[in-house]
Amino acid sequence: MKHRELKPEIFWVGAIDWNLRNFHGYETRRGSTYNAYLVVDEKVVLIDTVKEHFFPEMLSRIKSVIDPQKIDYIISGHVEMDHSGSLPAMLKLAPRAKIITSPAGERGLKKHFGELPYQVVKTGDTLNIGKRNLQFVEIPMVHWPDSMVTYSPQDRVLFPNDAFGQHIASFERFDGQMPLNIITEEAAKYYANIVLRYGSQVEKALNAVSSLEIEMIAPSHGIIWKTHIEKILKLYWKWAKYETELRALIAYDTMWGSTEKLAFALYEGLEQAGIPTTLRKLSTTHITDVMTDVLESRLIAIGSPTINQDMLPTVGGFLTYLRGLAPRKRTGFAFGSYGWGKGGPERVEEMFKEMKFNLPVALFKVQYLPTDDDLENMRQVGEKLGTLLQSTSIS
Ligand SMILES: Cc1cc2nc3c(=O)[nH]c(=O)nc-3n(C[C@H](O)[C@H](O)[C@H](O)COP(=O)(O)O)c2cc1C
Repeated sequence: MKHRELKPEIFWVGAIDWNLRNFHGYETRRGSTYNAYLVVDEKVVLIDTVKEHFFPEMLSRIKSVIDPQKIDYIISGHVEMDHSGSLPAMLKLAPRAKIITSPAGERGLKKHFGELPYQVVKTGDTLNIGKRNLQFVEIPMVHWPDSMVTYSPQDRVLFPNDAFGQHIASFERFDGQMPLNIITEEAAKYYANIVLRYGSQVEKALNAVSSLEIEMIAPSHGIIWKTHIEKILKLYWKWAKYETELRALIAYDTMWGSTEKLAFALYEGLEQAGIPTTLRKLSTTHITDVMTDVLESRLIAIGSPTINQDMLPTVGGFLTYLRGLAPRKRTGFAFGSYGWGKGGPERVEEMFKEMKFNLPVALFKVQYLPTDDDLENMRQVGEKLGTLLQSTSIS
């Protein structure tokens, strides 16, 4: 396998995971890449590695540039094993290499691989490798405690590890070589499912790199940003501040169709009020895709029937996932059908309260099948929510 030269003396030597479809529960329908980069200066630096079983692919790409024995440093920007998994194998072939990592990175790597030749760096530290002085910025919790950015001022290249990444497997390496909407959609999905919880830390990271001159952002997954750097930085600022669009998401599931009827009536009302709305059935749409819809939706309406005095597991699973990712500045609305007691809609509303969602309209529920009047009432609730959403009174 061959390297790709990104800039003079900077090479992409990563691996392409064409067939990956499930990445710790994240549905990766376009596969992914594990991006490792080689900087060949007076000293030779490898920035990150790849998943363990992709080591041969990375190695063959490295060998197409240099003899791996010449590697002096391996920078570990993130402990997670899709980037660190090949460290032990790489060290065997690069016996003089030191592992450059953050203090939290050293602690994490030791828990994975034990004692290795670590050299710890902190924010503001530099590493001279000849013509270049590599700079380091710790970006804790974007998205693990150890996350760290490497910057080469001489090349104006930022290596931010997982930040700005997307799960896309492709021959193309640069953002100008692929439709931008595909890249931003996958970047949004990545942010919504991996980073959303850490908005304030993302803001800190963005502030930390805001003074840097950047010609290239080379993340650890997917496409490298070169043509659309301003666009992705703007999106990250927006997402970090939890800014939303005037949009609604209706996510629901159903056993016998009643909650579904309510969902469509709600959709009709929101449509009437002019609110662009997305409707997702949780048993047919993967939760990681529904999270992408959450990212920019101001209203999150969730419907569940009652089963055994509780929500349907598909709805409960999604809400648990949503609670962990902790979106802010949202309006919630719970609805559903029941047979003889409390359960689904009430649990949905409780979860909304736990997430501190704004709840301007009380939950809406019907016993068994909704009547025409029930559906009309639900439609009116949709209109009311739409009107409220358009006013400035609710976020
Ligand atoms: C296995 C099962 C368990 C149920 N458990 C409850 C319950 O504990 N409390 C209740 O009020 N209704 C219960 N129901 C009734 C449903 O909530 C009711 O049929 C409702 O209309 C279903 O809505 P859906 O058509 O959206 O699935 C249960 C239904 C099923 C099939």
